[in-house]
Amino acid sequence: MNSEALSAIATGVESTSADDDYEARTALRKRIAAEWQKGDPLPRISYTPDEHALWETVTSKLSALHRDLACSNYLRAAARIVLPTDRVPQLDEVSEVLTETCGFRLYPAEGVVAARKFYGEFEDNGFFATQYLRSPRAPFHSPEPDVIHELVGHAVMLADPVFADLYRAFGRAARRARTKEALDAVCRVFWFTIETGVIREQGELRAYGAAILSSVAELESFRHVELRDFDVADVIRQDYSDKECQPLLFVADSVTRLSNDVRQFLDNVK
Ligand SMILES: [Fe+2]
Repeated sequence: MNSEALSAIATGVESTSADDDYEARTALRKRIAAEWQKGDPLPRISYTPDEHALWETVTSKLSALHRDLACSNYLRAAARIVLPTDRVPQLDEVSEVLTETCGFRLYPAEGVVAARKFYGEFEDNGFFATQYLRSPRAPFHSPEPDVIHELVGHAVMLADPVFADLYRAFGRAARRARTKEALDAVCRVFWFTIETGVIREQGELRAYGAAILSSVAELESFRHVELRDFDVADVIRQDYSDKECQPLLFVADSVTRLSNDVRQFLDNVK
């Protein structure tokens, strides 16, 4: 399936409603990702004018919030990557910049990828990213990882050398984990750091987690939820749900401390 097929869907000739169009486009993009194999060119998607407008609306709101609420590593990395503001970028163009910046490449994902495959790929500088957009009915928070989450959240952080190294360490640990329990602990530490992590900078709470940085709702509320000091032993005992805004976040004192603590945990995963 290619971009012409997507254009056909986008015209909505046989659709009965905007919701049907959205579901059809998302299903098609998932199928394109499922059929993609390493070595194939990255799929280029024909986003509709409404999707470009949704990207512009959401990312402009996120950028305004990032100025006061994103950590300094994120803001520096965002200046390095410079995602377009008025259109959904293609995976291949962002991947190219990332490869030059930190060595990472993006691969298409049909949705949530199995943990060992998703994390394991980090060791080889690969990151699976979805290409579909969140529902226009819920633009400011998407429980599913959409292209805004992947690019505004993860891809920008992958342009930061410290965090890129941390992703690689997660990849090595995930591949080394021999038991379900060991892999589950890696998942929990990933969730409470790379996905939902918060850090203290000059006395202010700032986000570095991709799930927070890509959600207007999370950015507007994270300073008011239950906050605990980051502690790996505490984190690996903590359950979470990725279906709603987070009621509990872990706060690190500094990127250096966070990186050291997480690396120490990951390097000892067996
Ligand atoms: Fe994510």
